[in-house]
Amino acid sequence: KIIILDFGSQYTQLIARRIREINVYCEIHPFNKVPALTPEIKGVILSGSPSSVREEGAPTPDLTHIKGKLPLLGICYGAQHLSHNFGGEVAPSASREYGRANLRYADNSCPLLQNVTQHSQVWMSHGDTIVKLPNNYKITASTDEVKVAAFQVANEQTYGLQFHPEVYHSTEGHQILKNFVCNICGCEQNWTPDSFVDTTVKSLQEKLGNDKVVLGLSGGVDSSVAALLLHRAIGKNLTCIFVDNGLLRKDEFTGVLDSYQHMGLNVIGVDARDRFLSELKGKTDPEEKRKTIGRVFIEVFDVEAHKIQDVKWLAQGTIYPDIIESVSVNGPSVTIKSHHNVGGLPEKMHLKVVEPLNLLFKDEVRRVGRSLNLEETILNRHPFPGPGLAIRILGEITPERVALLQEVDHIFINGLKTSGLYDSVWQAGVILLPVQTVGVMGDERTYENAVALRAVSSTDGMTADWVHLPYEFLANISNEIINKVRGVNRVVYDISSKPPATIEWE
Ligand code: XMP
Repeated sequence: KIIILDFGSQYTQLIARRIREINVYCEIHPFNKVPALTPEIKGVILSGSPSSVREEGAPTPDLTHIKGKLPLLGICYGAQHLSHNFGGEVAPSASREYGRANLRYADNSCPLLQNVTQHSQVWMSHGDTIVKLPNNYKITASTDEVKVAAFQVANEQTYGLQFHPEVYHSTEGHQILKNFVCNICGCEQNWTPDSFVDTTVKSLQEKLGNDKVVLGLSGGVDSSVAALLLHRAIGKNLTCIFVDNGLLRKDEFTGVLDSYQHMGLNVIGVDARDRFLSELKGKTDPEEKRKTIGRVFIEVFDVEAHKIQDVKWLAQGTIYPDIIESVSVNGPSVTIKSHHNVGGLPEKMHLKVVEPLNLLFKDEVRRVGRSLNLEETILNRHPFPGPGLAIRILGEITPERVALLQEVDHIFINGLKTSGLYDSVWQAGVILLPVQTVGVMGDERTYENAVALRAVSSTDGMTADWVHLPYEFLANISNEIINKVRGVNRVVYDISSKPPATIEWE
């Protein structure tokens, strides 16, 4: 496997995903917690960073057992670190170097650049630049603006790249990373969905033996894939619980429950609609809504789970990005929203926790799901927040407002599907606004609700942009909503990106 030491760059996870796409397993570790070097570790990559190597207290890893001993690749900050701390010199660039550039190299002897075409496009994003390399270092590629775009260290398998091979705009970045992990490090390309399923099923069987396991299903990809893996490993010893909190999409509870039962899973559907809605009565503050839903979910789930005799384990669909230890170079981050999934469950339930997906990125979860024959409708489903429609009904939540939003949301989502737009949107939904507006229908004055449509593109929900849906489509959806749903006389489209807005309104 490959180890990526993280210096806090926004691209670190992208490096990891690119390497996984080459079917090579890799892990991200904070730069100051280098893991013990076992024989499985075939190479190390140093990530970029928002810091500068020239700053006092710049992040500095301990490379004593790595540099010169294992293949090592520094990217951006990582490359600057390998120069600055070993006798070279780094200085601020005359102008911030950002964007496309083209590689030029004198000869093609560098193993890192094999099969990469002359003038290949790469992506630069840096404020510092390497002005002098240590003595035994050699420039292997330059661009018009950047003399040291790539380097190699004599008699070592140490390399540096000033540009970002992991980003899409570095058109042959894939080849460069492949050269490193396959040719230089000698990793085998055996990290595939099928091999993941085989090894995980075996290790789950060893770990769980004949124990009983309970899992909370949400209708989303992660919990569904976790359930299928466990089902394959331990069969009937897995019981799934799917809670209807009354805040799901229209017909979602019965539809999803049906598909799970078709897949052979042992699922208990729990109708807790009244319980959730009565606890939410009168609550309008977003955080209070989230916390109430989180608490009630745990209470309902706990009661159901303990009806299973001798249950020992709680399975969760935690994925790799949830457990990567973050490197904080700019101080601790603040809580914007308290996300609830099943956080808090394990402490309350006194069960051991099993997380079969905690090595996977989201795209890998989908591929594993496909290899387990999970239905495409669940595989390609947009993310949906745990608190459901509660955080899309601004102001008080009443059964009538939930029903109204379910109808509007159904028209929008269905429209996206029938127009072939659903799969090109990362997430979509409708927000019921706490305002009434004046309209005219026939000769009558109306005074009814306004709703906002939201559709975003994103890769992980951390940043997002609004989707430029065709006007024609928006016009049709707006007409359909206003004509069909009583109580709505105005439709608006949310054109804010994240940041500075967020995807959900609450
Ligand atoms: P925001 O609104 O923070 O949302 O931009 C980012 C992504 O997270 C989802 N989201 C949640 N998911 N529990 C969840 O499981 C939550 O409490 C929650 N709040 C937001 C949101 O739908 C989007 O995909």
